[in-house]
Amino acid sequence: MISVQDKIVIITGASRGIGKATALLFGEKGARVVIAARSQDDSEKTASEMIKKNPKSEVLAVVSDVTQEKSIKNLVQQAIQKFGGIDILVNNAGIGINKPVAEFTTLDWDLTLDTNLKGPFLISREVLPIMIKQRGGQIINISSGAGKNPIKNYAAYCASKFGLIGFSESLALEVRNYNIKVSVLLPGTTATHFGDKKREYVGLRPKNSLLPKEVAEAILTLATQEPQAWTSEMNLRPLIIEP
Ligand SMILES: NC(=O)c1ccc[n+]([C@@H]2O[C@H](COP(=O)([O-])OP(=O)(O)OC[C@H]3O[C@@H](n4cnc5c(N)ncnc54)[C@H](OP(=O)(O)O)[C@@H]3O)[C@@H](O)[C@H]2O)c1
Repeated sequence: MISVQDKIVIITGASRGIGKATALLFGEKGARVVIAARSQDDSEKTASEMIKKNPKSEVLAVVSDVTQEKSIKNLVQQAIQKFGGIDILVNNAGIGINKPVAEFTTLDWDLTLDTNLKGPFLISREVLPIMIKQRGGQIINISSGAGKNPIKNYAAYCASKFGLIGFSESLALEVRNYNIKVSVLLPGTTATHFGDKKREYVGLRPKNSLLPKEVAEAILTLATQEPQAWTSEMNLRPLIIEP
């Protein structure tokens, strides 16, 4: 297992949920973390929690919208300016809208696909020339169990997460000769804000759910494999023990 000490890591959607837990864990392990999300307050909260946990944490919070090219360019520029490179990109920002297709607006569709699929493409396109120049790097895309197993009333979400797996697998083949690993993680239901603000984890494990920290640990596992070992896809599920 290798260390993430001093590695420069961009985590999108690190203002809450899985992204935040990942930022805290990587910060604890000595990584230099760039937090990317739209909410300044929540991003700054993540940054101060990181510093509280590990006063030596090096962290940069950049208000970013993954659906906007200009915002992505600014994010990557700021990361380079502050830390001088990018070792790991975690494409985690995501949304899901629960609605039957007949009621889905074009705006709902575009927002879901732009956030969950176009976003990872836009950031990867910005970061790849840097990783290619460095002759190394890693991109970890957060898909979902819904990227393989459809969920009713989540057609756009499923389309985006199925698509993200295809994008990851094709990109992996394209860049592996540059010593760049692309991995896709498919978490099961995780106790976060996702889709419903009432679902935020407050201390007890909700039934049949993973905790954000457990997903963060899976992301860390992918980031700390030996240089010649590459997990292309990881399925993470809560262990459900029947009574
Ligand atoms: N929770 C689950 O059950 C579950 C299961 C499998 C997979 N996942 C996936 O895990 C990832 C994280 O989900 P989560 O459960 O942690 O959800 P969450 O608590 O709602 O967090 C989503 C994060 O994405 C950010 N975000 C949303 N739109 C954005 C945009 N346009 N630009 C930048 N950041 C944006 C949000 O920050 P701002 O609002 O501040 O921008 C927030 O930090 C998602 O890709 C989700 O599909 C979740």
